[in-house]
Amino acid sequence: MPDDAGSTSHDRKGVVLVVRVSGFFGQNFHTPPVSIASAPGRVNLIGEHTDYNDGFVLPMGIGLRTCVAMGPSGDGRWHFASEHQPETIVFERTAVGDTARRDWTSYIRGVIAGFLAAGHEVEPVCVAVAGDVPVGSGLSSSAALEVASASALEAMLGVAFDPMEKALLCQKAEHEFAGVPCGLMDQVACVFGDSDSSRAGWKPAPPAARPAEPGGAILLDCRTLEVRRIPIDPAWVLVIDSGIGHAHSGGEYAARRLECEQAVESLQADGFPVKALRDATPVMLEAIRGDDLLYRRARHVVTENARTLEAAALFESTAPDRLTRLGQLMNESHASLRDDFEVSTPELDRLVEMACAQPGIHGARMTGGGFGGCVVALVEPGKAQATGRAIVEVSPGAKVRFSC
Ligand code: GLA
Repeated sequence: MPDDAGSTSHDRKGVVLVVRVSGFFGQNFHTPPVSIASAPGRVNLIGEHTDYNDGFVLPMGIGLRTCVAMGPSGDGRWHFASEHQPETIVFERTAVGDTARRDWTSYIRGVIAGFLAAGHEVEPVCVAVAGDVPVGSGLSSSAALEVASASALEAMLGVAFDPMEKALLCQKAEHEFAGVPCGLMDQVACVFGDSDSSRAGWKPAPPAARPAEPGGAILLDCRTLEVRRIPIDPAWVLVIDSGIGHAHSGGEYAARRLECEQAVESLQADGFPVKALRDATPVMLEAIRGDDLLYRRARHVVTENARTLEAAALFESTAPDRLTRLGQLMNESHASLRDDFEVSTPELDRLVEMACAQPGIHGARMTGGGFGGCVVALVEPGKAQATGRAIVEVSPGAKVRFSC
């Protein structure tokens, strides 16, 4: 398996990444960094487009990570370098807070703005970014960058945010600086999806002490912000990238959010005491059946919340046939995203079909915001790598991103 399949020794990968970002920092800024931190990408197992409806999501951290190194710039300007970008970008002292300027530094600048707004004195820094979370694949490269940046700043300044506050700060950065009206799932997954959150930020010490491995899954209640850890063997999870990039700022994501809000308003107008689609029931939805589009959008959210809660309970149970039922839930989730919420693509549908036709696969679905990106499959332990290979061999442009 290639390295980007996330299947090689996670310890070794973590160390390699720290050494890489440290070297990259030195190469660009001619001094060692003062702090380094990393955060994982995430895959959402189930619970799609439910987070901004006050619902439930079940994501997990994966073995692909983004690593950020920082140190004071000493020249009153902010410097940003990424191994994935051709040039270093420099901002004058106050220009760092310019929300109108949108580029890859927006995610980091938004986090810096959050620290400043929280009353922390952040002097201009040099920032270097390295990592292997693919951009535009729906594996939360932006949230991983935000969370890694926040953790590097925490380590540099010697402060520690409450983890949920940190996730909220990162979400705000994405809203205000990247212009993406995302829910909270990705940032929470990148903060809590690490099995050992103590390694989120550290001053460079022996890197060997800082392994990178996929964390457990988490059930997040997006209304109460309660986080429950759910035991999931990473060997059950296979993630395949369709090779088609997605773009949330492209308008469709915002349009879905709006339609969900309109469905809530319609239900309220019919006298139902709902604050968000989280409060709606299948019976209530009958009242808005006349508006087919809003009805289907709402039906997706209502049924997806139920599937997510059932899936979390199954993962926690010891029922012998639970993987079979979990697979059905994933298939139903995909059908609902395809037909009711209309965020899938023919390529994602085809990958899901192909995955489901493989022996050892219990179910599969698109994962993330949609319109491209990845599919996630629930697989018999030990079968992920062979299955992933079989699927990508006959799917031009597709790539295995995670398999244990
Ligand atoms: C994107 C957003 C998340 C969530 C998913 C869909 O990843 O960033 O907040 O809404 O889409 O589940």
